[in-house]
Amino acid sequence: MEKYISKAKVLIEALPYFKAFNDKIVVIKYGGSAMIDDHLKSAVLEDIVLMRYIGMKPVIVHGGGKEISTTLERLGKKTDFIQGYRVTDEETMEIAEMVLSGKVGKNIVRHLHVHGVNAVGISGKDGGILKCCKKSIGDIDVGLVGEVTDVNPKLIMTLLEDGFIPVISPIGINKEGETFNVNADQAASSIAGAVNAEKLVFLTDVPGVLGDKNDLSSLMSTLSLREIQLLIKEKQVEGGMIPKLQCCYQAVIDGVKKVHILDGRVEHSLLLEMFTNDGIGTMVEGGEQDEKMVI
Ligand SMILES: Nc1ncnc2c1ncn2[C@@H]1O[C@H](COP(=O)(O)OP(=O)(O)OP(=O)(O)O)[C@@H](O)[C@H]1O
Ligand SMILES: [Mg+2]
Repeated sequence: MEKYISKAKVLIEALPYFKAFNDKIVVIKYGGSAMIDDHLKSAVLEDIVLMRYIGMKPVIVHGGGKEISTTLERLGKKTDFIQGYRVTDEETMEIAEMVLSGKVGKNIVRHLHVHGVNAVGISGKDGGILKCCKKSIGDIDVGLVGEVTDVNPKLIMTLLEDGFIPVISPIGINKEGETFNVNADQAASSIAGAVNAEKLVFLTDVPGVLGDKNDLSSLMSTLSLREIQLLIKEKQVEGGMIPKLQCCYQAVIDGVKKVHILDGRVEHSLLLEMFTNDGIGTMVEGGEQDEKMVI
């Protein structure tokens, strides 16, 4: 009997969170290892299904860097990264679009359907969601990498209102109709801003932001906007963590209330973050005077 009572208590403890998040939009950037391992994938998607059933409105924006690299390798094509961005020529773009929109996105949709939730796989091109221009990184040309200039949230809102979970691949389009590879973190943060999300969660393959990349005990559980600026300036973060932090920063400026970087390798990390008092990973919150500083 005790066992059953404690189970009920867990549910009751989550009640205030269920109430607070009812009807609220939560954007989840799904990437890294949590997307490759089948067991973890199932756990992440179960969490999202639960969020949907208790009345939240989850939106999934997925990455797929590892899948793209594997496919490129299989085709004997080399790939380079500059400051966390994949150098994208036309052929790489074509392959990235096929992998992201055709394979990775539809696979997530398939898993959600198994749980009885209606999901729709779309790309940032659909409904003109992700409008972009070519990204420039100083003098370096990274090819067809897009910088999001505008987000049209209409299609996402329509899907949410009709009870679907939108599953969005980070592909954008410019005025001339050219296709761009958009960093999935940037896609997620611009979408979160445009749909007035309550929360933006980045699921990745580290416990959060580490003060020292090689020391797991250096987890920074909260970050201010100023601290983000410093971490980037002092080069304490590298690779994919640079665009991720820039995106956290931008999302907070755009009005997203809370942004989290969570370890997608920890089973049910989403549920732990959303519905318990124990904060995990790194949380970024706004509300400072220095918000307008540009990084
Ligand atoms: N200070 C730091 N703290 C934590 N991670 C760091 C730090 N500096 C660099 N990193 C790297 O950032 C990586 C996370 O970004 P990455 O782009 O690789 O993953 P992702 O965005 O989750 O996946 P994807 O890009 O495929 O969607 C970590 O695996 C880690 O190696
Ligand atoms: Mg990344």
